[in-house]
Amino acid sequence: MATAKTLPGGWRKKHQKATTVLRAEHALVENLFRRFEMAHTPTGKKQIVAEICTELSAHARVEEDIFYPEVKAALRDHRLIHEAEVEHQSLKELIAQLKNLSPDDQFYNLKVKVLGDCLKHHVKEEHFEMLPEADQANLDMVYLGARMTAYKAALLDSGAF
Ligand SMILES: [Fe+2]
Ligand SMILES: [Fe+2]
Repeated sequence: MATAKTLPGGWRKKHQKATTVLRAEHALVENLFRRFEMAHTPTGKKQIVAEICTELSAHARVEEDIFYPEVKAALRDHRLIHEAEVEHQSLKELIAQLKNLSPDDQFYNLKVKVLGDCLKHHVKEEHFEMLPEADQANLDMVYLGARMTAYKAALLDSGAF
């Protein structure tokens, strides 16, 4: 992607701050969990879980490859980032398990519930601790948001998840 200086004029107006992008993605995934609770057929459940896994995997990868390193470089205290990275590992383990599980499995609903609970905890820390700190850091948040949006679209297009 071009640098902030070489992008065509007016690009800033078309993009959101990185922290706004991340909050919107959290809301989207949380909504998928609510939809899962209302799904009653194995096919419906499987489809929603596939969406959750894809969205969450792409979201986590964008944070790990772009957002966290930028925030890490801008902040002196790296505790929140390290904690988030460890939580991502747990989320990814549950996602990997769910991908290989049938909705008929006795632990399927439970694993989706635990994934939702882990995510809720993780998102709460990002919303109330990491993102406010990132907003205070000396970062070009709109440029970061533009980079993240482009990267996520490329990841989803490549079928990586
Ligand atoms: Fe996040
Ligand atoms: Fe995260």
